[in-house]
Amino acid sequence: MRIGMLTGGGDCPGLNAVMRAITRKGVNTFGDEMVGFEDGWRGVMEGKLRPLDIESFRGTLPRGGTVLGSSRTNPSKTDDGVDRCIATLEREGIDALVAIGGDDTLGVGAMMAERGVAVVGVPKTIDNDLSATELTFGFDTAVSIATEAIDRLHTTAESHHRVMVVEVMGRHAGHIAVWSGIAGGATMILIPEEPFDIERVCDGLRRRHEAGNYASIVVVAEGAVPVEGTIAVVSGEVDQFGHPRLGGIANTVAAEIEARTGFESRVTILGHVQRGGTPTAFDRVLATRFGIAAIDAVHDGAWGQMVALRCGEIVRVPMAEAVGTPKLVDPALYHGVAEHFFAG
Ligand code: F6P
Repeated sequence: MRIGMLTGGGDCPGLNAVMRAITRKGVNTFGDEMVGFEDGWRGVMEGKLRPLDIESFRGTLPRGGTVLGSSRTNPSKTDDGVDRCIATLEREGIDALVAIGGDDTLGVGAMMAERGVAVVGVPKTIDNDLSATELTFGFDTAVSIATEAIDRLHTTAESHHRVMVVEVMGRHAGHIAVWSGIAGGATMILIPEEPFDIERVCDGLRRRHEAGNYASIVVVAEGAVPVEGTIAVVSGEVDQFGHPRLGGIANTVAAEIEARTGFESRVTILGHVQRGGTPTAFDRVLATRFGIAAIDAVHDGAWGQMVALRCGEIVRVPMAEAVGTPKLVDPALYHGVAEHFFAG
């Protein structure tokens, strides 16, 4: 078969490992011919592709990013975008397409499958907020990076008796914040799922500092929101999938804490550091398992399906099931575990 691959949306450590696995099994086991579309759906729309083989992925297992490039281009937001994609696939003789991406990329994949395109999906996002899979690769790497940052912030926070507000990624869900916050022993964790009351945050910090702990770490997910009508936040520009560009809520939180409590506060916005660089061993293994399962799905003709992790097993689920509704933080983990340590 002649198989195309693409990586769409925000990049993620482990993307190369997925494509390496697909290519190795495709070429060695099935005798497939592989091609890669550049920069996600944009490459399909604009007919930008190149041949790929086992050599193309040598040395890429520990390499972050994606050798194919990525974009947030949404063909359905461009005149004739979907038709142009389908025309490219026909013109280039593509028998099957593997779309590796998050909610948006897979949403387009599901739309293409409905139009009769032979497409299989692989879930990806550092945010780990994709429904239908218990985990996405890249999440473990992001949590490790954020945890290391929190560990480092503890010592400088203690030396200066400061409140350190650390912003991590997490647009719709606070998985990175909760995991890194628990692992790093954060004083408080603010997530999109639970609008925060800044006065309650400040009360908690006051109680902690009065009890003799003169330093605190507040982890805030970039998508965290204050309780309506409490404090104002600025929203940024919107991408082709309608998502605002986030980043900066930590500045508001730190300024409010300092103004309300008098505790000196500092901000660290981890940003894209969480997405760059080498994947952890866990993410490399998960990505490799997804890649092997994806090429098997292609050869089984499982169109419109996505590979997913459930109860430790790699399974197939309809791509449409994975998109639309984000997977949120388990309230038992937030209220029962994370919150248990708040301000203590
Ligand atoms: O891919 C998910 C994500 O990392 C979000 O956590 C974050 O809001 C967004 O991507 C950032 O996107 P960009 O790299 O386009 O600024």
